[in-house]
Amino acid sequence: MINPYITEKLNPLFVIDESRRKELLLEAEKIPSLIISSAAASNAVMLASGYFNPLKGYMNLTEVLSVAEKMQLPSGILWPIPVVNLVKENNFSKEVVKSVGKIALRDPNVEGNPIIAIQSVEKIEKINEKFYSTVLEKTFGTTSLDHPGVSTFIDSGDTLISGPIEVLNYSYFSTDFPDTFKTAVEIRKEIDERGWEKVVAFQTRNPMHRAHEELCRMAQKELNADGILVHMLLGKLKKDDIPAEVRNESIRKMVQLYFPKNTVMIAGYGFDMLYAGPRETVLHAIFRQNSGCSHLIVGRDHAGVGDYYGAFDSQTIFDILPSESLQIEIFRGDHTVWCHKCEKVVMMRDCPHGNDNYLLISGTRFRELLSLGEEIPTEFSRPEVVEILSKYYQTL
Ligand code: ADX
Repeated sequence: MINPYITEKLNPLFVIDESRRKELLLEAEKIPSLIISSAAASNAVMLASGYFNPLKGYMNLTEVLSVAEKMQLPSGILWPIPVVNLVKENNFSKEVVKSVGKIALRDPNVEGNPIIAIQSVEKIEKINEKFYSTVLEKTFGTTSLDHPGVSTFIDSGDTLISGPIEVLNYSYFSTDFPDTFKTAVEIRKEIDERGWEKVVAFQTRNPMHRAHEELCRMAQKELNADGILVHMLLGKLKKDDIPAEVRNESIRKMVQLYFPKNTVMIAGYGFDMLYAGPRETVLHAIFRQNSGCSHLIVGRDHAGVGDYYGAFDSQTIFDILPSESLQIEIFRGDHTVWCHKCEKVVMMRDCPHGNDNYLLISGTRFRELLSLGEEIPTEFSRPEVVEILSKYYQTL
């Protein structure tokens, strides 16, 4: 199986040892605590799961700037997205936290705000306008507050608390999605048990329509892969995206009905969507390598939103990465459409019939049709998937 990113062994930050957990919980009662942002909590879950291997915690100002400007940590390791604990300055006493040197991080997404992690505080740094614009422009390609990732970042706060963390739980992900949420460690184990070598990962934040389904099939065939990992985001999304539990149900149904048994593994990861397009795609590749996948499917406007990124920017970014920085490879998907002449879903590059014969399939259009209660053509989506999604839309 492919090695984890950078290290030979995964080093997840979840504390397994029971006595260490007890020690940390006792310690948490004596140190200052703070309710963190949902984004910071989801970073903790990714660190706990081994997905963000080899990171050890939240980045400081120098690291964030280096990652934003050069896509590299100061050590030279390729890293595309700042992993931060951004908090509001008014919500805690800097002096107290500094003197204690540790802080208990409380989960904003779970009733009662239980402690999700303990952080050793290395630095507390206030950030300024210039920082915001550089980091946002480089990471998201825009500083516009209309961009959902940018507004979430800015709303999180004005102060970076950096330093290593030890994580005590997987937030609501392990309880709300007991069969679907998996850590990178668990996925590697399952890949091993299935005896797969070449594994192609499919990232999604959407229910799977026909283009998604066929992309998986085409990638598996072209790469001669042993299996497919359908790896869905389970964290927070923008308002009009479909919630994880509905998506999960529809994806499971589609896989059960339309893929041969034992060729697809379904799993989810606990992260809030950033919509950072190309930069987020590189992060997607890193955490799929950590999960033991040899390939990641990258299609049209991967991890994008609105018109912020070019249709294939998330593929071309891989052309400028230092060679051999990543072991995982990407499978480049072209526009995938229904062709009336071929009577099947095709990638445009493989089909001679031209635009007049194509029905464009997009998640945005799919959601639009569903919210208008309009008929969804079978070329667009499997009827069993439509049934599940229509039920959800009727509840809105
Ligand atoms: S994402 O934000 O998680 O990337 P989504 O779930 O819609 O969004 O897409 C999952 C994957 O399918 C991405 O790699 C995306 O590029 C690809 N994709 C979705 N629709 C199409 C399409 N019609 N043609 C080509 N690729 C597509």
